[in-house]
Amino acid sequence: MADLYGVIGYPLGHTLSPVFQQAAFDALGLDASYQALPTPPEGLAARIEAVREGRLAGLNVTIPHKTRIVELLDGTRPTAAAAGAVNTVFWGDGKLLGENTDVPAFRQVLDAAAIPAHERALLIGGGGAARAALYALLQRGHEVTMANRTPANAVAAWEAVAPGEWPQVLALDAPDLPATARTCGLIVNTTSVGMAGGPEPTSSPLPEGCLTAGQTVFDIVYRPAVTPLLAAALVAGGRCIGGLEMLVFQGALSFELWTGRKAPLDVMLRAARDELEAGERSR
Ligand code: ATR
Repeated sequence: MADLYGVIGYPLGHTLSPVFQQAAFDALGLDASYQALPTPPEGLAARIEAVREGRLAGLNVTIPHKTRIVELLDGTRPTAAAAGAVNTVFWGDGKLLGENTDVPAFRQVLDAAAIPAHERALLIGGGGAARAALYALLQRGHEVTMANRTPANAVAAWEAVAPGEWPQVLALDAPDLPATARTCGLIVNTTSVGMAGGPEPTSSPLPEGCLTAGQTVFDIVYRPAVTPLLAAALVAGGRCIGGLEMLVFQGALSFELWTGRKAPLDVMLRAARDELEAGERSR
């Protein structure tokens, strides 16, 4: 019987993972399938049981399970422990383990774009995605300021990821945010503001006056490809990075943990892009 993999979350909405993961399994001729598995909180333990019993071979994990799942596993890899979140469940040394592939995927995006580590970074957000991004930015050696609607959430993220360091946090409506933002060569958005289907699809998370020429703006939102924040960055003369590569990179690293095989990255990127473009055309 084919191995079954899937992504668990709730609500799952429209996820691209089944398309590009299935493309990867097929490209390598592996007898496996990948499905979206909507899983409300009360169904989480049963999903893990299914993995332990072999009915599922491995999982991607998304909101709202990334933290709670830790207690159901046999252990977590150091990156997942440090980021306080698991996005991949896999078997390693006979144990059911959790890893966070968002962190290396995030680093991979910045490496591929050749962003120098001395660039000051403004990190927008304070949720789970912001924690992974903060961890990756600090690992790369960036000086980071976080900006979030609820500053206390960003402070909590900072204390979880870099305990002992003084949190650099501003509110999104702080009067000195624009001046601080303009000193940052790298701006990263990890909030859902600007996401199609999200709470504020036509807004940018930043107020006026934050963006200047020469900045690189990385939005982890991938739908639409050009978010309102990225559109504003282009107008200001900045360079834009959308969220699709990060999505595929984290999935490719999950694939490698499950299969022990090198992920066919080009195949996965093409499948994800085609699906996204087909979705944008049909809207
Ligand atoms: P994730 O795990 O994907 O990061 P999350 O934990 O729900 O998801 O975090 C969502 C992020 O988007 C948070 O930074 C949230 O800000 P708060 O900490 O103030 O809640 C941010 N966010 C969501 N809706 C927002 C909005 N309308 N305006 C500004 N920020 C918003």
